[in-house]
Amino acid sequence: MPATIVVGTQWGDEGKGKFTDLVAKEMSLVVRYQGGHNAGHTIVVEGKSFALQLIPSGVLYAHITPVIGNGVVVDPQVLLAEMHKLDGQGVDVSRLRVSGNAHLILPYHRDLDVVFERHLGKNKLGTTKRGIGPAYADKAARVGLRVQDLFDEKIFRAKLDVALRQTGSLLSKVYNRLPPTAEDICELYLGECAPTLEPHVTDTVNLVHEALEAGQHVLFEGAQATFLDLDHGTYPFVTSSNPTAGGACIGAGVGPRHIDRVIGIAKAYTTRVGSGPFPTELFDEVGNHLVDVGREYGTNTGRRRRTGWFDAVMLRHAVRLNSLSDVAITKLDILDDLDEVKVCVAYEIDGVRHESMPYHQSDLHQAVPIYETLPGWHTPLSDISRRDQLPAEASDYLTFVQDQMGVPVSLVGVGPGRAQYLPFSEVG
Ligand code: IMP
Repeated sequence: MPATIVVGTQWGDEGKGKFTDLVAKEMSLVVRYQGGHNAGHTIVVEGKSFALQLIPSGVLYAHITPVIGNGVVVDPQVLLAEMHKLDGQGVDVSRLRVSGNAHLILPYHRDLDVVFERHLGKNKLGTTKRGIGPAYADKAARVGLRVQDLFDEKIFRAKLDVALRQTGSLLSKVYNRLPPTAEDICELYLGECAPTLEPHVTDTVNLVHEALEAGQHVLFEGAQATFLDLDHGTYPFVTSSNPTAGGACIGAGVGPRHIDRVIGIAKAYTTRVGSGPFPTELFDEVGNHLVDVGREYGTNTGRRRRTGWFDAVMLRHAVRLNSLSDVAITKLDILDDLDEVKVCVAYEIDGVRHESMPYHQSDLHQAVPIYETLPGWHTPLSDISRRDQLPAEASDYLTFVQDQMGVPVSLVGVGPGRAQYLPFSEVG
């Protein structure tokens, strides 16, 4: 498959890194197309753990060019720190390529993210406070600075001046915060970051098209997930970019006709961090069990994730929104000790059964899940590598989920290690 997209199908943290890493080994290029360092993947290779925030997972393979596309928002200090850390772990980061059109996260974006959240009070979104929303807002308002501006001091200073005139007054006059000075920002961004980043910055659209034209395989790696999508997620409890498959076209500069396969990643249950509706959320012992056994704390912010049962209504919608070819299920082993497992097959809203995602957000807030209950398997799955080794109950659970979604479950994760997975159904 020359061009494949990997996309999260729930509210993020599905374990995309593991399968992106697996699929990546066939690829020449792995391209991140949206988001910023609000993401966090952990990939375990031969017992060694690599935490990635901005750099695409493909960096761990020597034959892959990892690419940060134009749709990503880049905090250069964070990127350089990540490169430095990987370098210290023996990973060659010299192949990393960064789009000159990607927008920069500036120190005042982080400040704004913090004060906006504080002022929202009980209505806060629960953002990662990394400056993601304010950076994308500046991009849309056309007062953003881009990676390419780092290499033209005159332009950088002129654009910064315009941006600071607005943001500086907002921070000081409305939020009573001292804004960062242009000099401090220039020293950090132009003085410290630009020289180290420069060899990595290029026209990544051209790079992607040259690879596709040469018949090479390209993987587009989404961060966050379908229901955090700015347009299709549970607005306003979303991120400020488009993780859905269409976002790959915009954020990497390819048309939809290039895409051959879209792999959705879904956890065998559901988690969410931050605020927002979550129909299958559990507030009981099973919910705590999923947090404890599934180690459901953010890789990035350390926040405890909210947990709940698998929601097939969401997944059916994710299949539509992303044109999913197949779904890879992660963390099935976390359900190993449960007596029974539930799958939400529909919602009840005002006494009416809904098989599909309600169009109005207020309805989703009131949605009561209708469950099918299946027996648990009480068998450790972590060493299983073939479908025929699965206990019947686990196989039935996957088949049930697959039928509910209407697309094949291609791969199943049974542990954090690179080798801990099994193929389940053929992709048509
Ligand atoms: P932001 O992306 O920092 O603006 O946060 C907006 C919402 O998206 C919040 O609810 C975050 O918790 C959520 N979010 C952002 N990035 C991730 C992620 O990588 N995994 C899960 N949730 C995320």
